[in-house]
Amino acid sequence: MNNNKQFTYNVSDYDQFSYDYSLYWQKRRYEDLAEKTLLDNVFEEKKGNWFLDVGGSYGRLTNSYYSKYQHPVILDYSAKTLRQNWEIIKSKYPNVELIAANAYKMPFKEDVFDGALMVRVLHHIEHPLEYFTELKRILGDNAEYVQEFANKVHIKAVVRALLKRNFKFFSQEPFAQPSITMSEGSNNVEGIFYNFHPKHINKLLAQNGFTVKKKIGCSFLRSPFLKKLFNDNTLLFLEKTMRATLSWTNISPSIFFETKLKKENETKMQYEKFEDTLCCPQCKGELEIVADSATCKKCNSVFKKESNVWDFRVQ
Ligand SMILES: C[S@@+](CC[C@H](N)C(=O)[O-])C[C@H]1O[C@@H](n2cnc3c(N)ncnc32)[C@H](O)[C@@H]1O
Ligand SMILES: [Zn+2]
Repeated sequence: MNNNKQFTYNVSDYDQFSYDYSLYWQKRRYEDLAEKTLLDNVFEEKKGNWFLDVGGSYGRLTNSYYSKYQHPVILDYSAKTLRQNWEIIKSKYPNVELIAANAYKMPFKEDVFDGALMVRVLHHIEHPLEYFTELKRILGDNAEYVQEFANKVHIKAVVRALLKRNFKFFSQEPFAQPSITMSEGSNNVEGIFYNFHPKHINKLLAQNGFTVKKKIGCSFLRSPFLKKLFNDNTLLFLEKTMRATLSWTNISPSIFFETKLKKENETKMQYEKFEDTLCCPQCKGELEIVADSATCKKCNSVFKKESNVWDFRVQ
């Protein structure tokens, strides 16, 4: 673990290239519904006060948790996406707060959130252990966290590796995918796109006090051939059947972990206003907030709220 607060990690900056992520979903109804139906089940029994959707973008998945938590927050590094979608998101989900920030260095005080979610973002996170450490800081004891990740050892990758007799592939090391043009922002400068071994993610979560309560496979039928063969409704029906029977395997390309965090300190903070949950993302110092400007009392960094969205991005 890196204890140096000045560390910087590469970020997949969606603002650096013209890429409307919502367009990505127009031709992927099956995957979209597979994830949404899965999350509807996951959040059915959950409830709480503050909730964080890390890398939540334009709020594609907000419906699944919105009615369960009093104060849902969407955090994303792409300030552009948040600002462009602010009005649509707020009209559908008036209680949601939007904030531009880096998942590695989040601008929240300790023990704020009762729940959190990350979907289709971990592949952009080169240092998941450091991210989980930061996440643990802002979650309260017993918080519930849902982590989705691109699975390195899904069935097609395994068959491919066996055919090539590439036995090294089966290690728990993350697999850096070559840049795939326009595939979920992976054509950016750094081309950060990792597939992870489920055991590796489980281990890193455990190092930070998260216990995986349930593993759920998703998008079992993600294949151009099957998509030509079946319509979306048939695919979704088969998906649900496979989800119920095959989630114990690692065959699906995407995996969701439902986890629970156990912290040593059991203090639970109660905040009513969004601004009260905030601190300096760089040094975690207290902020002096006047109108649309926040100044860190410790390191003097200044952060602004523009076009309805606070910008707390640091690298
Ligand atoms: C593929 S999109 C997924 C969006 C959303 N979770 C969903 O499933 O619809 C990835 C998002 O992660 C954000 N992202 C990537 N790296 C990030 C980081 N270090 N901190 C915060 N957000 C990040 C991107 O800006 C982008 O909006
Ligand atoms: Zn500071």
